[in-house]
Amino acid sequence: MITEIIGLQYGDEGKGRAAHYEAQNASIVIRATGGNNAGHTVVSNGKKYAMHLLPSSIIRKDVKSVIGPGVVIDPKVLIEEIENMHKNGIEVSPRNLIVSNRAHLILNHHKELDKLYESMKSNKVGTTGRGIGPAYEEKCRRTNIRMCDLLLPDDVLLEKIKENLRVYNILAEKFEDFHFINPEDEFKDCLIYRKYLRSYIYDSQEVINNAVEKGLNIIVEGAQATYLDLDHGDYPMVTSSNPNASGSASGAGIGPTLIDEVIGVMKAYTSRVGEGPFVTEQKNEIGDTIRKIGHEYGTTTGRPRRCGWLDLVMILNAKVVNGLTSICLNHLDTIGKMEEIYVCRAYYYKGKVINYVPIDRENCEPLYTRFEGGWDVTGVTTYEELPEKAKKYVKYIENYTGVKIKYIGIGPDEKQTIIR
Ligand code: IMP
Repeated sequence: MITEIIGLQYGDEGKGRAAHYEAQNASIVIRATGGNNAGHTVVSNGKKYAMHLLPSSIIRKDVKSVIGPGVVIDPKVLIEEIENMHKNGIEVSPRNLIVSNRAHLILNHHKELDKLYESMKSNKVGTTGRGIGPAYEEKCRRTNIRMCDLLLPDDVLLEKIKENLRVYNILAEKFEDFHFINPEDEFKDCLIYRKYLRSYIYDSQEVINNAVEKGLNIIVEGAQATYLDLDHGDYPMVTSSNPNASGSASGAGIGPTLIDEVIGVMKAYTSRVGEGPFVTEQKNEIGDTIRKIGHEYGTTTGRPRRCGWLDLVMILNAKVVNGLTSICLNHLDTIGKMEEIYVCRAYYYKGKVINYVPIDRENCEPLYTRFEGGWDVTGVTTYEELPEKAKKYVKYIENYTGVKIKYIGIGPDEKQTIIR
């Protein structure tokens, strides 16, 4: 069984919850796209683990976690994250973590470039500043350094780094905003990365091919989300990879016909960090209240998230883009604290009522259906025990999308999950 877990909105939907549950029966969990722009928070037995690069399965001893070929890795961050897990008494070793030798590195100049590009843009994306875009850009230019390169003989690695930095350092000679980066310094850093990471670097495809042949359970743990997707999101206010189900399958090294289940993860409302269209945004007391009760501050950057009502037009579109087979609905507890709730069921666009996502979404007006809120889910463990008003909300989403809601999150701890 191969399952993908994909974000249906703008990221931060709580993919870690579904990933963690699905990982209970999995042999392998793979991170497939993006880098440390992602932030997974898993609360297990009252303890909170914030991860950016490691798959959330790392806290499970019996699962092999893989960072796949589609990921861009800041080695400094990966090492810090592994060290942090060790401090928390979590095993991370080559026994339970593989870093694909095909994955690309994020180096210092990528982070410099990320900030510079943003500062130069009149229409800012609001990137995480982690060097994600520039690393993918160099990957596409076919000049980037990969994990496998760290294992090359010293002189070959140094040559690659010099080649990789050539264009950047020509710019640094001309423009004072670009800080010259000495290839020798980058090389020294790479030697540290090599020493620490060498036993983790492996051909993940070998492991995945074997697992597929044996019919083992595999989870592809998505990062970011459908509306941050380079092709299907609100370009240019997107990330630089394809975190939809197809892109994630590719980033993991698994073909589309091998995928059995695609679980889409969504919140019972909408939140977004960074710039870009947001049809149901509430730039008012409602948005402030949702942010406060939903603790809507970025795991990666700490930025307050923009908040608003649930937009089901987005979810309907995401159903097709990702080929959803089920949904994980999070924060049903949070939205229930609002006395009245609105859900966007269609857009009013150029004089018409539509239920697809047009390219100029900023020109859409939301058409809302009102729900009565004010429900309390304390102590609830089954769907049947949910207050009627909450069930009505869940049913509406299910009927509208035609997709079964498999998991319902009613609190931050993974145990606060209703499984149907
Ligand atoms: P980048 O991925 O750092 O280039 O940022 C591009 C856009 O995607 C910005 O609006 C970020 O805030 C957003 N973004 C990237 N990764 C995530 C994520 O994991 N969750 C939420 N937003 C993200």
